[in-house]
Amino acid sequence: MTKKRVLVAMTGASGSLYGVRLLQALQLLPEVEVHGILSKWAKENLRLETTLSAAEVGALCDVLYDENDQSAAVASGSYPIDATVIVPASMKTCAAIACGFADNLITRAADVALKEQRPLLLVPRETPLSTLHLENLTKLSRLGARILPPMPAFYNQPRSIEDLLEHQTMKLLDALQLTHDLGRRWSGAPDTAKNHML
Ligand SMILES: Cc1cc2nc3c(=O)[nH]c(=O)nc-3n(C[C@H](O)[C@H](O)[C@H](O)COP(=O)(O)O)c2cc1C
Repeated sequence: MTKKRVLVAMTGASGSLYGVRLLQALQLLPEVEVHGILSKWAKENLRLETTLSAAEVGALCDVLYDENDQSAAVASGSYPIDATVIVPASMKTCAAIACGFADNLITRAADVALKEQRPLLLVPRETPLSTLHLENLTKLSRLGARILPPMPAFYNQPRSIEDLLEHQTMKLLDALQLTHDLGRRWSGAPDTAKNHML
């Protein structure tokens, strides 16, 4: 079986658990080979926001790269990567990608995804968003990136942080066109007899 290669990069925006949850979900899919990069500030936020170490999160990847290794395979468009996800994506990293400023492996890999016209998914986390943030995200959207901010839905009646993480991960796996059974999908209002939550 040819595996689908998915590159997951985590940066220093808040919400490191979104990245962790995606890595955990991908690890369960045998058809996916997970490549990972953690920025210096992603590692720091893991320490501040979770009980997980960078080493434990790195172990969820089949291949792990150093963010400063510009000679890594994923720095080249000649290396086949099927999709790149940056989760969470800091405004700094989004700004760098929007400018083509590929000064580390994460921004270079995103630059490669754009130039090769491969799927690039961004999970930007910041609030409020300045006009500069919005302009960068709009530019990236126009360039072909998909912007999936972690905005929780409430129609599925989340009860826990895990429910919120799972919903966002469901949206990411859907965008990656992977088959999975995560999350609760809307299938019509529950007070209509023929409709119910899946
Ligand atoms: C605790 C903490 C939370 C942060 N949260 C955010 C955030 O939500 N969004 C953001 O854009 N930057 C956030 N930052 C700032 C980034 O970490 C900082 O801009 C960093 O340089 C990003 O670098 P990177 O994109 O290479 O990881 C946060 C920093 C810390 C220490």
